[in-house]
Amino acid sequence: MTDPVTDPPPSPPAACPARGTPVRLSGLGYQQSPSELYRSLRGIHGPVAPVLLDNDIPAWLVLGYNEVSYVTGHDELFARDSRRWNRWDEIPADWPLLPYVGYQPSVLFVEGAEHRLRAGVISEALDAVDQMELASLCQDIGHALISAFAGSGQADLMTAYAHPVPMRAIVQLCGMPAGGLDTEDLVRDLRLSLDAHEDEDPVAAYGRVQARIEQLVKEKRASPGGDVTSRMLGHPAALSDEAVVQDVITVIAAAQQPTANWIGNSLRLLLTDDRFATTVAGGKLSVGQALNEVLWLDTPTQNFIGRWAVRDTQLGGRQIKAGDCVVMSFAAANTDPQVWPEGHVGAENSAHLSFSNGEHRCPFPAPQLADVIARTAVETLMEQLPDVVLGVNPHELRWRPSIWMRGLGALPVSFTPVLQ
Ligand code: HEM
Repeated sequence: MTDPVTDPPPSPPAACPARGTPVRLSGLGYQQSPSELYRSLRGIHGPVAPVLLDNDIPAWLVLGYNEVSYVTGHDELFARDSRRWNRWDEIPADWPLLPYVGYQPSVLFVEGAEHRLRAGVISEALDAVDQMELASLCQDIGHALISAFAGSGQADLMTAYAHPVPMRAIVQLCGMPAGGLDTEDLVRDLRLSLDAHEDEDPVAAYGRVQARIEQLVKEKRASPGGDVTSRMLGHPAALSDEAVVQDVITVIAAAQQPTANWIGNSLRLLLTDDRFATTVAGGKLSVGQALNEVLWLDTPTQNFIGRWAVRDTQLGGRQIKAGDCVVMSFAAANTDPQVWPEGHVGAENSAHLSFSNGEHRCPFPAPQLADVIARTAVETLMEQLPDVVLGVNPHELRWRPSIWMRGLGALPVSFTPVLQ
């Protein structure tokens, strides 16, 4: 293993045309096969590569397992408050990555004692969720969604299933009446706020999400219930309504998007990989193994923006300037050849970095709740539609144009129509 701070990156091949040139982290080619890009960046630049975000804004992409662990474990050097960025004067007001990179006074961006307090409130509010009840809620949600398309013999599982299951589960946990709020619009706005679409405005979509959650917090302040939002409002830390609005948005966005893609990527694996093909009918590898393999090989939060250097420092042999933006590539780190020298990626264990690490990692017990939601969703679908098959050739599947999320735009399937 190398030292993440001081070891120099391997020398790039002298004739390589991309030598020293930052690569754009956008474009369809990258979205369809990011692992090839990571491999080539590693070969050229080593574990920390110069890249360009939208509008050609420079940043560092951290590809090494050791280096990502080092960044997440050293808040004093790589911190979360994005106002440190030394590039803000180049960022336009409609920059597509703004919704989740621009500073918000949420748990995501606060630091130190304030962060520990806010993350603690979220953890305690989530810890009161009964995991058996959550599984049964997700099963009911799954049955209701499946019965809406079961008679047709075909569906796009991303829009009809993978996105709405975690969204309905998390909005109910947060105390929104089932069906009382327009769930489909909320799913759509969250997705738009994370993707790069030419004809949609991510900033406006984020604004609509915020307006909906402000309304929810007002209602729960007036009339608390046994839900996550009410528990956050009633916590002895006495957070302000504004703080709770920000943190409930974070909880919903952080739960819905990665869990939906965890479900979608696992269903894709089950439907396309021979090792799992016979499993559904009682074969070899289990749903649990598919869920775990996805976290290693197709992790939902593929990149996370990010951390900002507190002062001049080094990483992977690179000189990082104070205020530089560091993007953590969990997908690249999980497949780092230093971790998998024999070339075979994947393990039964959960030593992947898919839930990050350190102070700002996905907070306890969110990974367990996500596991309950994803596992129940996948198992319910496989039980209800046992002869489900992919409706297109695997190579026709298209990935979303998102730097953050590794997820399919659509997952068309067909099955014997179920008469109800
Ligand atoms: C019930 C489902 C989930 C909930 C409620 C949840 C909640 C959260 C929250 C509140 C944060 C912010 C933590 C902070 O900044 O202190 C967070 C961060 C994060 N979550 Fe989750 N999450 C869920 C599911 C997932 C899933 C399925 C994944 C990926 C497989 C994931 C990966 C992450 C990552 C990578 C971060 C960023 C951590 C960092 O900045 O280092 N989460 N999550």
